[in-house]
Amino acid sequence: MRILVLHGPNLNLLGERETSVYGTTTLEDVNRQIESLAQELGVEVRIVQSNHEGVLVDALHDARAWADAIVINPGALTHYSIALRDAIAAVNKPTVEVHLSNVHAREEFRRHSVIAPVCKGQIAGFGVQSYLLGLRAAVASAQM
Ligand code: DQA
Repeated sequence: MRILVLHGPNLNLLGERETSVYGTTTLEDVNRQIESLAQELGVEVRIVQSNHEGVLVDALHDARAWADAIVINPGALTHYSIALRDAIAAVNKPTVEVHLSNVHAREEFRRHSVIAPVCKGQIAGFGVQSYLLGLRAAVASAQM
């Protein structure tokens, strides 16, 4: 089984960006933990981070050919990117939306996700664990 893990804009700055909200774990650490869980679960992960909407859309299109499921933290694009939402809908693979922070407990504009309606579900508020729970959910969804 092969899973695409996508990190959206600004997540490359994890560990130094708004540490009171997002913690001090770097993206490299997050990716290492994702890879270690993937190994434990016996699945292959391919991880992409981009600050550019179009690169994320291209990565989703590319996943049509090989991925069984997708885990995505779309960052701020969560709240307004119809292009990303349409790409997820077009690709039509079980997709899990994840967020480090509890977006529902923050500013009003973060409470709405244009991505959520085209996803199997959303995991938010558990820091790095959101990705790990998201990976487990993606694997389970691909097996359904
Ligand atoms: C985020 C939440 C978004 O609102 C924000 O724009 C991010 C990170 C999270 O993981 O908590 O960049 O997706």
